[in-house]
Amino acid sequence: MLCRRIERIYRESGAEMTTDPTDQQFYLSTLFTIIKAIDARHVIETGTFVGCSTAVMACAMDDLNTDGVIETIDPAPPRYGGFDVRDPVSVANRVLMGHFAHRVILHRGYSVSAWDDSRNELPSAPQGILTQLASGQAKTDLLLIDGDHSYPGAYWDMKIGCRTLRPDGPRLIFVHDYHSIPDVRQAVRDWRMQNSQWVELRAYRKNSGFALMQCHPALIMAERLKDEG
Ligand SMILES: C[S@@+](CC[C@H](N)C(=O)[O-])C[C@H]1O[C@@H](n2cnc3c(N)ncnc32)[C@H](O)[C@@H]1O
Repeated sequence: MLCRRIERIYRESGAEMTTDPTDQQFYLSTLFTIIKAIDARHVIETGTFVGCSTAVMACAMDDLNTDGVIETIDPAPPRYGGFDVRDPVSVANRVLMGHFAHRVILHRGYSVSAWDDSRNELPSAPQGILTQLASGQAKTDLLLIDGDHSYPGAYWDMKIGCRTLRPDGPRLIFVHDYHSIPDVRQAVRDWRMQNSQWVELRAYRKNSGFALMQCHPALIMAERLKDEG
């Protein structure tokens, strides 16, 4: 049902989208369920691509009928990985601004830095968008990491991104591709080991897989203090 809804939204925007039933549909419905369960009012996502995960989270917020907002970051390469989609972020722009302009903010740039040249040509775009967001008010309920899939990319998205989390909120970090990409898995394991008493982890180890982590408020405060120092 959810995936039919998303496919219809894309069709109405003049874009074709089919969701893969074994992997992507499970991932998207998990995200949808989490947004609803925590009643997320502010989400940051690294890695917009064509905007599918953003659209799913926006649908959940529409159903909740709240003023929830999603800020999503992507440097907008002309192509990404092996996907046969030209200018994927322009597709996201059309779909998300057509349906969810009231709750989606698209940032063009790199979350922290431009590391991952294995999946796309790295376009010229501003760096440190997540770093900038992290230096503002900590108001995020969920950080979704699905941008730079290199080891430093995933590691620094967690390290910097946890500063955006609202200490009195659900404090969740969701890392996609935890099972399928060894660099991402290793980055999650290392970051978690470094903060073992402050991070609870649940992992889904099938297909792309994901890690869902909850950060202790003390970790968020300590990371924010480091930023100020
Ligand atoms: C796997 S796709 C994201 C898929 C999307 N979250 C979804 O589920 O529909 C990864 C995206 O991350 C972007 N990306 C790569 N490096 C990035 C970085 N440093 N910051 C933000 N996005 C990045 C790529 O351009 C690509 O569009």
